[in-house]
Amino acid sequence: MKKVFLTICIMALSFSTFGQAINRIAVIPEPVSTIEGQGIFSLPAKITLIRPVGNENDRTIDFISEKLSNAGSKVVVKKSGKGTIILQLNRTKNTTIGDEGYTLSVTPKNVVISANTPTGLYYGAQTLIQLFPPEIESKIATTNVKWQIPALEIIDYPRFEWRGLMLDVARHFFTVDEVKRYIDQMSRYKYNRLHLGLTNDEGWRIEIKSLPKLTEVGAWRVEKVGNFGTFSHPLPDEPKNYGGFYTHEQIRDIVKYAKERFVEIMPEINGPGHSLAAIASYPELASTPDAKNYNVRAGEPIINWSARPRYTAYIDNNLCPANEVVYEFLDKVITEVAELFPFEYIHAGGDETTYNFWEKSPEVTKLMKREGLKNMAEVQSYFGKRFEKIIQSKGKKMMGWDEILEGGITPTTALMSWRGIQHGIEASKSGHYVVMSPTQHTYIDYMQGDISTEAPVYATLRLHKAYEFNPVPDEANPKFILGGQANLWTEQIYNYRQAEYMTWPRGFAIAESVWSPASTKNWDNFVKKTENHFKRYDYAQIKYSPAIYDPIVNVRKKGEKYYVELTPEIKGLDIYTSFDNSEPDNFYPKYSQPQLIPKDAKLMKIISYRDNKPIGRMMTITVEDLKKRAK
Ligand code: ACM
Repeated sequence: MKKVFLTICIMALSFSTFGQAINRIAVIPEPVSTIEGQGIFSLPAKITLIRPVGNENDRTIDFISEKLSNAGSKVVVKKSGKGTIILQLNRTKNTTIGDEGYTLSVTPKNVVISANTPTGLYYGAQTLIQLFPPEIESKIATTNVKWQIPALEIIDYPRFEWRGLMLDVARHFFTVDEVKRYIDQMSRYKYNRLHLGLTNDEGWRIEIKSLPKLTEVGAWRVEKVGNFGTFSHPLPDEPKNYGGFYTHEQIRDIVKYAKERFVEIMPEINGPGHSLAAIASYPELASTPDAKNYNVRAGEPIINWSARPRYTAYIDNNLCPANEVVYEFLDKVITEVAELFPFEYIHAGGDETTYNFWEKSPEVTKLMKREGLKNMAEVQSYFGKRFEKIIQSKGKKMMGWDEILEGGITPTTALMSWRGIQHGIEASKSGHYVVMSPTQHTYIDYMQGDISTEAPVYATLRLHKAYEFNPVPDEANPKFILGGQANLWTEQIYNYRQAEYMTWPRGFAIAESVWSPASTKNWDNFVKKTENHFKRYDYAQIKYSPAIYDPIVNVRKKGEKYYVELTPEIKGLDIYTSFDNSEPDNFYPKYSQPQLIPKDAKLMKIISYRDNKPIGRMMTITVEDLKKRAK
């Protein structure tokens, strides 16, 4: 059945034949080159799809067939002959597009996608489907949609080989089906690396057959909801009924599923810090005798982040660097992990190690003397080097968070730069491979809008800031920058819908930063495309954040007076406010300048409209909160 084309307006936006060229094409990430041709391709009811010679990957064909069947078209797959959609692997390599690029030619007659590899064909298919109206994503049949796309020629290939998302499955557990859904969604935006955070203080999520307690004990904790990090301590009689882990069979299934979508999975086994789940399972791994009383963290405070000169731990969540048992443990873990994940890198963590328990440990003191280690950073470096040897002994390369630079690293270690870009710049200059993942641009666990509309997190990353992400700063050695990655830490993410909400649309912005040439990036155009993809997500029933419609709220204090300054993140919005407890609408005075908080007011309400329709969320902020924000 054909689907409804919702309004003439969408049509006018989509097709230049109706006199408007704006946003007729809304491909994310932006292709390297798009040249519009003459005429329109209309999808016939019966489509012949010509499969490429020598292609073993059926996923691309299944993907196109599934999507076009949403458009009511029946797809017949043939090996040769005249086709409506032709997929072809180049006999002679097209050197411009490399191993992941493609060319896409749309004429009124047919569609041809060419690539050097099946990966390129998969990405070409993603672009093709994005060229159709948003209803192509609908889970339910719609009618009267014009399944047309403008004639064009696209040449496209990635800027970086590493286009990553990190999903933390330790803080909150996500099922195999949810991880697969995440892979599906990311690969549609041409992401090709999924970094799975498999271990942390709050859970151990991978079966290790030679260490069964890791999942018998380490995968389970007391269930709590609210503001993670502030919870009360779990009591001995509270059931440990929250958690889960992936069996070997499930990991193999996820890896295969990802591979079919051209996504490589990098497992992270974090050490020496963030290891409480392992220590709760095997207390001998810590340098503290007390560890036998430890539990998997359920969200209670375990680190004092405001301690100086360095944060300190209330309980010892570190593997002991001076105990051979730890290296035997890591060897067992990495043996199984290396067998399960074919990807070349294993991430060894290394972030946020606390030193206060090591400082008190006679074993660590002895180790320092024996090895001539001058400080705790060097102790961590000793651990890191031994961890790397284990990883390399299984035929893999090690990557770690940027703290591992501090005590010195081997030339073969790769770095993930998260505390800004400086560590990544430094590492690239000294010849280490780097993935840029700075908090300022890629931490998608941060709030993306005002705290009045978001699940509270300690920091904010708005969409425009994510869009500014440039994985290769001027000072870096570009030869060693593998690419970039956004990280979804899940302390405050209790379910998969929220994981989607936090990932999109910032995932669109990062995708464009790691795929598209810097010269094609354009914020206004990106916003229009993002709104087109919001419609796609509405049809696909994928959750996303509409925070771009809610203004940025700043408060300035002048003398004894407070002024609220509202800055829209995107163009074309009208903002209405009230201080009288009523809900403003577009008949209220329009915001035009910073607003004085009236003397006895209690609440401010704020809403955005576009074309006289509400588009933002009703934001309600107490005057007390506003005053606390004053600069
Ligand atoms: C990190 O965010 N602790 C790597």
